Amino acid sequence: MDETLLLRDALAMSADLIAWRRDLHQHPELGFQERRTAGVIAHSLRELGLEVQTGIAETGVVALLEGGRPGRTLLLRWDMDALPVEEATGAPYASLEPGRMHACGHDGHVAIGLGVARLVHAYRAELPRRVQLVFQPAEEGLGGAQRMLDAGVLEAERPEVALGVHLWNARPLGWVGIPDGPMMAGADVLEIEILGKGGHGAAPHQAHDPVVAAALVVSALQTIVARNTDPTATAVVSITQLRAGEAFNVIPDRAILRGTVRTFEAAVRQTVLGRIEELAVGVAAAMECAAQVRLTPLTPPVVNDPRIAARVRAVARRVLADGHLDETERSMVSEDMAFFLQAVPGCFVFIGSANAERGLDAPHHNPGFDFDEAALPRAVALLSAAAFDLLGHA
Ligand code: NI
Repeated sequence: MDETLLLRDALAMSADLIAWRRDLHQHPELGFQERRTAGVIAHSLRELGLEVQTGIAETGVVALLEGGRPGRTLLLRWDMDALPVEEATGAPYASLEPGRMHACGHDGHVAIGLGVARLVHAYRAELPRRVQLVFQPAEEGLGGAQRMLDAGVLEAERPEVALGVHLWNARPLGWVGIPDGPMMAGADVLEIEILGKGGHGAAPHQAHDPVVAAALVVSALQTIVARNTDPTATAVVSITQLRAGEAFNVIPDRAILRGTVRTFEAAVRQTVLGRIEELAVGVAAAMECAAQVRLTPLTPPVVNDPRIAARVRAVARRVLADGHLDETERSMVSEDMAFFLQAVPGCFVFIGSANAERGLDAPHHNPGFDFDEAALPRAVALLSAAAFDLLGHA
């Protein structure tokens, strides 16, 4: 496969990529409600003559792209959902839906996916066997990837390698991040209920105040990363919600803390989760309260297979030769591509998409989020070339 053709053709497709992206951007849909989005995807794939399955895990779309030569099967995964954010970009293609916005770039991911489908299809005679295109709903903390796996997406084709991509506004257009091993953190949801004894705000000696206990628990949790994890390891413990009480003069019965834990390694995660339990229970007890800790796993870490990542880096050096290739980028943000990469060895790629001069550098999930659409054809060329390259090597 002549990779220079892929970049040339992807760049020639820019207007279509931007049109797809802007249409999706104007019509954002939340997780498991991506019906219009799924319709756009299915229509575009059927136009290529592909056999398309819809309604998988509510709104997921899967299609098979058959090549002309024998070989392995590769899975390409894209996410589709928007966020409950009120858009504040002022862009002419801004969201038409109040309170909903593509603030993470998944509109761009769908456009990239449609572009890759078109490009790989155009050169399918040179494609060793099959590409499985997977458009997944509900990435944003709603469990869409697991639902797709539960629906048996991997069973029919048994893909041997998986690829995915995320536009990355933390880095400028032209930058590409393809690290080895864990690259995006695993996430757990943390909830601590502190049970005390309520009373009059003016008679604290007759109460067991869960508010003071909660404050001390929040402080104590800050010592986990500082004192319990290996200083060369990485972890985050963030308490993001603290709720207690209804009136200024009433000591409440209970307080609720919620937050998140982010880690890359299982051993670090076990240390952190264990210390959360010990500190919450111990500190609450010292304050004459009781603590109940509920830890819910959300997403495992996104882990790149080093051999596959090395191949994709080599492709990036050839196809995006003008860019900056970063082998070290890691993020504490989580991504449910992790579930696919637990089941199938593969690689997730960050595509730099910010353009500070044009004001397109707000962070992901921000109401002002927007990216440089010149990242779209670059991603299409890279993912298409990587698909041909990986399918060509057993
Ligand atoms: Ni995202």
